[in-house]
Amino acid sequence: IRCQSTSTKEQKTKRNLLDNASNFLTNLLSGGSLGSMPIAEGAVTDLIGRPLFFSLYDWFLEHGSVYKLAFGPKSFVVVSDPIVARHILRENSFSFDKGILADILEPIMGKGLIPADLDTWKQRRRVIAPAFHALYLEVMVKVFTDCSQRSILKFEKLLEANDLHGEMAIELDLEAEFSNLALDIIGLGVFNYDFGSVTKESPVIKAVYGTLFEAEHRSTFYIPYWKIPLAKWIVPRQRKFQKDLKVINDCLDGLIRNAKETRQETDVEKLQQRDYLNLKDASLLRFLVDMRGADVDDGQLRDDLMTMLIAGHETTAAVLTWAVFLLAQNPSKMKKAQAEIDSVLGQERPTFESLKKLEYIRLIAVESLRLYPQPPLLIRRALKSDNLPGGYKGNKDGYSIPAGTDIFISVYNLHRSPYFWDRPNEFEPERFLVRREGEGIEGWSGFDPSRSPGALYPNEIIADFAFLPFGGGPRKCIGDQFALMESTVALTMLLQKYDVELKGSPESVELVTGATIHTKNGLWCKVRPRSDLGEQNPVAA
Ligand code: HEM
Repeated sequence: IRCQSTSTKEQKTKRNLLDNASNFLTNLLSGGSLGSMPIAEGAVTDLIGRPLFFSLYDWFLEHGSVYKLAFGPKSFVVVSDPIVARHILRENSFSFDKGILADILEPIMGKGLIPADLDTWKQRRRVIAPAFHALYLEVMVKVFTDCSQRSILKFEKLLEANDLHGEMAIELDLEAEFSNLALDIIGLGVFNYDFGSVTKESPVIKAVYGTLFEAEHRSTFYIPYWKIPLAKWIVPRQRKFQKDLKVINDCLDGLIRNAKETRQETDVEKLQQRDYLNLKDASLLRFLVDMRGADVDDGQLRDDLMTMLIAGHETTAAVLTWAVFLLAQNPSKMKKAQAEIDSVLGQERPTFESLKKLEYIRLIAVESLRLYPQPPLLIRRALKSDNLPGGYKGNKDGYSIPAGTDIFISVYNLHRSPYFWDRPNEFEPERFLVRREGEGIEGWSGFDPSRSPGALYPNEIIADFAFLPFGGGPRKCIGDQFALMESTVALTMLLQKYDVELKGSPESVELVTGATIHTKNGLWCKVRPRSDLGEQNPVAA
């Protein structure tokens, strides 16, 4: 009987692999009739040497805001238009799934929210969304400040050591520092686990970075080569990936087991009113396990945690990296940011309340996301045939697309579109304070803060989908407020004490991209105590 069931299992696995391969081939060949859509012919060389989204931008200026990109037999529809993005993400969102992205991420995130099929997504989003309630965010601000303080202490120690050699500045790869900081924060926020990566290395941290590396590698290949039978056992990098995944999964399984053993089942409303500021464990895992009526198997819970670990880590680190990169080239804006920090906080730490007043810092984070969106492309696949709007200056009747069409919404193009932004390539956090009329652009209603009163940041509603810092529609980022508060705290605590300068020229900072845009060799900066703080600054004193 055991033999039989094993062989049935094997047959099933083989059948699944064959199904996957045949689906993949069908998708590969389904160029579909996309009517009169302009076509850009991609060459393999377009994929080498520079990130794909740069080429997508050039083709956008040449072919317009909706075009078909053909790579041999494979084609994608590339969208750089708010009206079409709104259609796909919000108005007709359930006609699309994550397509290639799900192929890439499923082995890592399983049925977590990002790659999840629509049925699983509906169930899990309903359960997870209430976990990001106001008191949780408030207590997270304390986690953000505690973790940022660890980075500051590390910098102070390095500065002190340097001071012995008469140097008043340290050279640091701030991208690596932000990556460690964001990892510590997400570990504590999602499952109350302190990676401690700002100050140490551990097998779990190494495994997380190994997994992220592989996820990134996969996301630059639009062919799921890792699905080739036995690849995961034969190819050394795939074997290492399986090993890393096991280390993280074992760690998560342990945390889930602990949380379940200490479960205190409670209604959602009561959970949201717990005495959060005095809770030992305020994590999302605690909330999800304690929630009455939300019983779920350990595998799904692990997928949820893994998804949030990955979704919330590199994205935030990237915002901080590019914010500093941009500020370092704009010293007057850095001074303006520091003046805001001095007037709101002096030398105090940020709190949930005082964060609201740090508007300029928040706009810096948001403007960094405009210029360097994370991720630069949103990926979708049509589940059924559809009619896409033609977009700005496009075909008036729109374009019909067959089921299976793969779509890239280029957030990078949208955010730098000369049709929707003044001086699109310039760093101007102040731009969001100005109302912009949508007149003359049919179907786009401009940039109007009154459309989302009380919003924490200029969002996709205010910009009518010309700005998608956290996506839009039902599958919009669930951690947007968490991430923005985290970025604001980290940036504030850095600039409160230090001036930052790039070590080399801005041009020497090369970009690479996977799921996020990051640097090729780190963001090397000179960090020195602020000269204008004088006696107040303990390091300078
Ligand atoms: C989804 C961006 C931080 C969890 C998304 C999406 C974007 C995004 C653009 C939509 C993807 C799509 O439509 O295909 C960002 C950025 C962040 C950030 C720029 C940091 C600055 C976080 C954090 C968490 C998180 C901190 C968790 C704590 C998620 C999840 C989804 C998501 C679970 C999937 C939502 C769904 O499909 O229902 N994020 N994110 N993100 N994000 Fe974030």
